[in-house]
Amino acid sequence: MTNAAPAIILVRGDITEQRVDAIVNAANSSLLGGGGVDGAIHRKGGPEILAECRALRASRYGKGLATGQAVATTAGRLDAAHVIHTVGPVHSTSEDRSELLASCYRESLRVAAGLGARTVAFPAISTGIYGWPIDDGARIAIRTVRETAADPVVEVRFVLFDEPAYQTFEAVLSAMP
Ligand code: APR
Repeated sequence: MTNAAPAIILVRGDITEQRVDAIVNAANSSLLGGGGVDGAIHRKGGPEILAECRALRASRYGKGLATGQAVATTAGRLDAAHVIHTVGPVHSTSEDRSELLASCYRESLRVAAGLGARTVAFPAISTGIYGWPIDDGARIAIRTVRETAADPVVEVRFVLFDEPAYQTFEAVLSAMP
């Protein structure tokens, strides 16, 4: 039983093509799909994922999934065992929502560990439609994963969809002690 934080690797690519135990979805509170990562995961993962999301809405999550929380479903046709849906905060210039963004990573790792996942793929949560600046989003993501013991998770990969995001994560990661 190790309490070490998972190893972090950066991948430039499409999160729906990752072969991992759990793929994290940048969802919205409805859990009923959307654009960006959410749209890609549902499109490629197939209807089973949405069916399980609907079941969650009909049971434990009647009011939807709260920002910063995480819940797992099947990964459908994706090359993963689970999709972990988490709702990132919309970026605000008047309110510091950093803790809610950190919670997305922490809670997703907690759910992944509970499922016995060893490898987890994250997108850069909130840095797309939700407008979070990529450099600050990268700092929060990397810092939170590094400080979260999530045994048996041994590998976290941040899957960056475009070159600027990849470069930003690389710069933030290499600047950290
Ligand atoms: N693989 C990896 N990363 C991706 C992919 C993909 N297939 N598609 C988009 N991204 C990147 C974006 O470039 C961005 O850096 O994921 C990051 C998160 O972007 P969004 O998917 O827009 O997620 P977010 O900013 O958290 O906004 C969530 O968007 O799709 C809706 O339903 C979702 O309402 C929710 C909102």
